[in-house]
Amino acid sequence: MIIGFIGVGKMATAIINGLNKSSHRIIISGSSLARSRQIAEELEVEAAASHQELVENADLIILGIKPQMFDKVLTDLNFHQPIMSMAAGVTLERLASLTSADLPLIRIMPNLNAQILKSTTGLCTNDKVSEDLLVIAKEITDSFGTTVELAEKDFDTFTALAGSSPAYIALFIEALAKAGVKNGLSKQVALTIATQTVLATAENLSLGSDSPHDLIDKVCSPGGTTIAGLMDLERTGLTHSVASSIDTTIAKAKKL
Ligand SMILES: NC(=O)c1ccc[n+]([C@@H]2O[C@H](COP(=O)([O-])OP(=O)(O)OC[C@H]3O[C@@H](n4cnc5c(N)ncnc54)[C@H](OP(=O)(O)O)[C@@H]3O)[C@@H](O)[C@H]2O)c1
Repeated sequence: MIIGFIGVGKMATAIINGLNKSSHRIIISGSSLARSRQIAEELEVEAAASHQELVENADLIILGIKPQMFDKVLTDLNFHQPIMSMAAGVTLERLASLTSADLPLIRIMPNLNAQILKSTTGLCTNDKVSEDLLVIAKEITDSFGTTVELAEKDFDTFTALAGSSPAYIALFIEALAKAGVKNGLSKQVALTIATQTVLATAENLSLGSDSPHDLIDKVCSPGGTTIAGLMDLERTGLTHSVASSIDTTIAKAKKL
């Protein structure tokens, strides 16, 4: 399949790095022909002479431009193939209004971890997407991480839980490291300990059969140190604080 990218910045580059391991042929078109050629050389893909040339030749289009560029870039193009959009806040309905209501449309929401091909990517489609196309779309998103198919109404929640949460998880790691520094460790050592422990705990939950509660119970011995710390975390409201921050993120996304 020929996959055409319009706009190749940070996120599209991460996706192309995943797709480069597949047998798909990739063509790109950036903000100018000079930029397209430069990026194509860097990523070892082909550059199209224009957006329209790319649209004429690609079997599937992936839009890697910013949401505010959609009107300007899409209006004059004559699409005839399925389109995949990763733009935050651009609904399938709006995408159809800017392209065509008859085309198969796929909306995805990758996250920052696409950089290491470990994105948790949300995916939804309009009713023009066939089972076969859905399989291809998921193969594409699986090439740079894990795909979660969900209803479009849940996209804002997904964006908070997967799109924004890397920042919240990084804040938790930073807080653990700061606590280590407060108690005499160097920042570098404290950060290594915190990062590796978060990584291994997530892997343990993901690969093993324990629920988070099972794991908590295993670490908390009766009358021990961990249960004392855990009670203190909940006294200061960790669960409430996390849920409140996710609610705030969702509310903000709905206002965009
Ligand atoms: N970054 C994330 O973590 C993330 C997460 C989820 C979703 N997304 C979505 O991914 C999309 C891209 O975000 P990004 O972070 O990758 O942004 P980005 O790095 O700024 O990439 C946008 C690209 O669009 C290019 N561009 C500008 N005008 C263009 C035009 N007229 N025709 C073609 N290309 C044009 C820019 O080229 P120049 O550099 O030459 O100006 C740039 O390479 C957005 O819709 C965003 O909502 C991003």
